[in-house]
Amino acid sequence: MIRNMNSYPLYDDGEHKVFWLGIEESEDEKGILTNQYLVVDGNEAALIEPGGFFVFSRVLKNVSSIVPPTQIKYLLYSHQDPDVVAGLNLWFEYAPLAKLVISELWVRFIPHLAVLSAGRTIGIPDRGADFKLGKSTIRAVPSHYLHSPGNFSFYDEKSGILFSSDIGAAAFSKDEWYLFVEDFDEHVRHMEGFHRRYMSSTKALKAWVRHVRKLKPRVIAPQHGAIFRDEHVGKFLNWLESLEVGIDVFEKEFYGE
Ligand SMILES: [Fe+2]
Ligand SMILES: [Fe+2]
Repeated sequence: MIRNMNSYPLYDDGEHKVFWLGIEESEDEKGILTNQYLVVDGNEAALIEPGGFFVFSRVLKNVSSIVPPTQIKYLLYSHQDPDVVAGLNLWFEYAPLAKLVISELWVRFIPHLAVLSAGRTIGIPDRGADFKLGKSTIRAVPSHYLHSPGNFSFYDEKSGILFSSDIGAAAFSKDEWYLFVEDFDEHVRHMEGFHRRYMSSTKALKAWVRHVRKLKPRVIAPQHGAIFRDEHVGKFLNWLESLEVGIDVFEKEFYGE
């Protein structure tokens, strides 16, 4: 059952805070459910995966209850899909000091979406980059081919939260939703089909898992579905490592061979 929920704190040490930015019941009717996140350090904020049109008013309302949108320094986009970027023109207007951050592969495509993007776009090089937020650092972690060819996860060093983009996405059936994974085996059934079809390469997935293990994230927070914490972080990484996806399974799936 989905109910309206406002933002929910994922981390708070007084100076550095992270929030999940809520959900509205009606979103279930409109398109795939999405998660947005806000990281605040001192008086600077980063909005992670700002989202499309139909979530904009809910995200703006929940951000505004935490910080004035004028404090948003970065709009961090993992990749170029509509569920991630379609609200960009609105964010540029309501967060006038914010810079758009996205893979440099997508920088020249963004002007098709946002007439005001000139001078407000930062392209992330393929190997990733660090972004200073207040006294903290958010690291753009390469996640290419998972699923977009120019794709990043974002690691908030202070909280240990890895915002994993579509990696870890769960597509719930209608009227089903929960914020945190509680029963991993049960949760797999919401993730498996999505990963096999939307993720491009088993090799890319294994490389990402190897790199992410070195970061030792405390929490993994995807753009769709539920958040992994405690023992579910390790279970999730193990599951990903055992998965075959995309070009490695397509022949059988598409042609039955
Ligand atoms: Fe996507
Ligand atoms: Fe997505």
